[in-house]
This record gives sequence, C-alpha cells and structure tokens, in this order.
Amino acid sequence: MSSRSYIVRVIVLTGAGVSAESGIPTFRGKDGYWRNLDPAKLATPEAFAHDPKLVWEWYGERRQRIRNAQPNPAHKAIARLAQCANEFLLVTQNVDDLHARAGVPNEKMVQIHGDIFVTRCSCCDFSDVGNGGSAALTALRRDRPEPPTRGQLRLIGPTSAQNERLPCCPKCSAPMRPGVVWFGEQLPWKEVQRVENYLDRGACNVAIVAGTTATFGYIVDWALQASHGGELIEVNPEETPLSTFATRIMREPAAIALPRLVDEIINS
Ligand code: APR
Repeated sequence: MSSRSYIVRVIVLTGAGVSAESGIPTFRGKDGYWRNLDPAKLATPEAFAHDPKLVWEWYGERRQRIRNAQPNPAHKAIARLAQCANEFLLVTQNVDDLHARAGVPNEKMVQIHGDIFVTRCSCCDFSDVGNGGSAALTALRRDRPEPPTRGQLRLIGPTSAQNERLPCCPKCSAPMRPGVVWFGEQLPWKEVQRVENYLDRGACNVAIVAGTTATFGYIVDWALQASHGGELIEVNPEETPLSTFATRIMREPAAIALPRLVDEIINS
C-alpha cells in the first residue's frame, strides 16, 4: 500500500449488483428475481415448510447457475484490495461463492446472508458444507436413490416422480434446507459479531458500498459507522438510500468502476 498512511482500514459492503456481470440476476433490479418470483413462496421458513420441493428446486437452479458463472473484474478488484489493505473486511449479502473464488480469504469475508452451497438441518445444528444436498438432489432427479454413506444426507418421503424426495438430516431426520438467511429470520449471530468487532476497532479510512439497494438497515448502519470521518464510496448505476451520505459516487457497473477505484487506492 502507498505512502498515504491513512488508507489503512478498509471495509467493502457488496450486494447482488456485484455478481450481475457474472450472469447472476439481482433481486430488485431489471429482470431481478423478485420482479418475477414471490419471495414469500421461495425465501421464507414458511415457504419451506409449505413446499420444500419448490424451494429446493429454486435453490438447485441457483446453485447450478452460480457453478457455471465466473468471478468478474469487480470480484477480482475486491480480492486485490483485500490483499493490499492493512486491515480489510468484506461484508457481502451475496450467497454465491464468487468473492471466495476471486480470492478473498474466509477470515476477511462475512457472508451475512449465508452461503447457498451450505445445506443445513432445519432443526438441529447439523450442516453440510460444499456440495451438500446436491448429490441427494441429483439422485432425486435420477429417481434412483443412492444408498447413504455415514453422515451423508438421506432422502425422505415417497418415491413417486411427482413427490420427489428431499434431503434429510442424518442426525435428527428433519428436513435439510439451504444455508441462507430467509426473510423474517435472524442474521447469523457470530457473523454479526465479526462485523461489529471489526467496526469497534475504529472507523475505516475507506468504506466502499457496491451493487446493493441497501434495503436493510444494518447495511446502512454499518456503512455509516465504518465511514465516520472517512470516505464512503458508492458504486452503483442507480441511486440508493446511501447516496446522500456518500463522499464519492460512481454511477457505473462495478466491473468497470471497482478495478479503477482499487488501482487508485493502492497506487495513491
Ligand atoms: N454494478 C453495480 N451495481 C449494480 C449492477 C452492476 N453491474 N447491476 C445492478 N446494480 C445495482 C442495482 O442498481 C441495485 O441497486 O445492484 C443493486 C441490486 O440490488 P438488489 O437486487 O436489491 O440486491 P441486494 O441489495 O443485494 O439485496 C439485498 O435482499 O433479496 C434479499 O437476501 C437478498 O441479499 C439479498 C438482499
């Protein structure tokens, strides 16, 4: 990092807009998921209780789309800043793994809305990181159950085609669900603590907010707390509730603006 010693602490807050140029739809933007789909039917605990198959199908499709996607220059620029900044934390609302695949280490990243590739029990604390559940879901589609190995997810329910079976917990047999935070649910406490501890250690010299409508109050609060006395840079083609507080606004796509901005920060 350059001689401008005050650029030592950085926080970056991201949303779906950062993954848009990797082909992952946003939620509220043009062609966003919530423009065509009802979140109450797909992204609430009630929806899962009512129709777990529908919910799993949607998350299965999203997982596949993310597997087929690649990190874009915005993800890569953020990973570079994570390497160069003296202190750095990325707080992402994205449940995809594109920040991690671009090289942001886990210890410098908080996925505050969870990880789509985690499959966890809807009742107990069992969770299966990685491709958990996909094998079971794939077996579903082949309609030929795989014998579960120890600790592997078992399928529950009848076998007929239209009542496809769903992964259940090897510990308590309850239905397994995607490891994301749904509407009406609490944020993961440990992850909130990580953000708060980082912010408690002092304001940041640069706070970047990219690709989010800043719909949730905690995102606005963390951005304002982090940028107290420092720079708040918004990267978003559209206005958001944070725009009035920003010290700098880049109304451009993140994959264009962020590589340039990070260059500037690192070389200044
Ligand atoms: N570069 C930068 N920003 C972009 C780009 C782009 N290429 N394309 C779109 N945007 C901006 C849009 O202008 C919009 O402000 O990204 C934002 C996307 O907003 P949302 O769809 O609301 O996504 P996000 O803010 O991440 O949503 C927050 O809501 O639905 C829940 O849990 C879900 O994590 C999600 C949360």
